[in-house]
Amino acid sequence: MTQDELKQAVAQAALDYIKPKLETDSVIGIGTGSTANCFIDCLATIKGQIDATVASSEESAQRLKNHGIPVYDLNTVDVVDFYIDGADESNRALQLIKGGGAALTREKIVTAVAREFICIADESKLVHTLGNFPLPVEVIPMARSYVARELVKIGADPVYREGVITDNGNIILDCYNYSITQPLASEQKINGITGVVTNGLFAIKPADLLLLGTAQGVKTLRAD
Ligand code: 5RP
Repeated sequence: MTQDELKQAVAQAALDYIKPKLETDSVIGIGTGSTANCFIDCLATIKGQIDATVASSEESAQRLKNHGIPVYDLNTVDVVDFYIDGADESNRALQLIKGGGAALTREKIVTAVAREFICIADESKLVHTLGNFPLPVEVIPMARSYVARELVKIGADPVYREGVITDNGNIILDCYNYSITQPLASEQKINGITGVVTNGLFAIKPADLLLLGTAQGVKTLRAD
């Protein structure tokens, strides 16, 4: 199977997982990226059965609207029943690195509101130790140099993602050569640097379920 076929398979598996649990007023949180796009296209096949969605990026919101799926402002909903999103890396505890698409902050906000976070990914994303994928950090533009110096102090090699402005008007520093053996501590430490909006570690609130696309079919993983 190609990587695209694996993404399609996990997107369909996520739909199959949530479908029997949907109520007429269910709100679905939608992630960002190529795997989340596959899920949006799957969701379009049952759009009459859901109340609405909330989106973690302008890009996903537009794709949902193109399908005729309603998108709510997160401030107008009390509960997000499910949040479905991809990841750049996951470990066995379902702690993730996200933000390859620069949508990490809104992704983390929707995750915080969601009752259940279902991560969908192909098997290349499952790793023993997080950090081979450079950890994205969203930073207030005027703090860029200061935050970069602080990231160097904790052992990372931050690189400014040229030409990228997030949906929140901020910049991204990608942390290379930063092996993350203690994801919780790293998430908290980096978020404590003044000028950091958030970082792409999802360890404080990891995924609840990982649907992993493999050559042998879709595997369901829960946190160890
Ligand atoms: C966007 C993300 C994505 O979930 C992550 O980059 C994975 O993307 P893809 O499904 O295209 O591999 O965090 O900010």
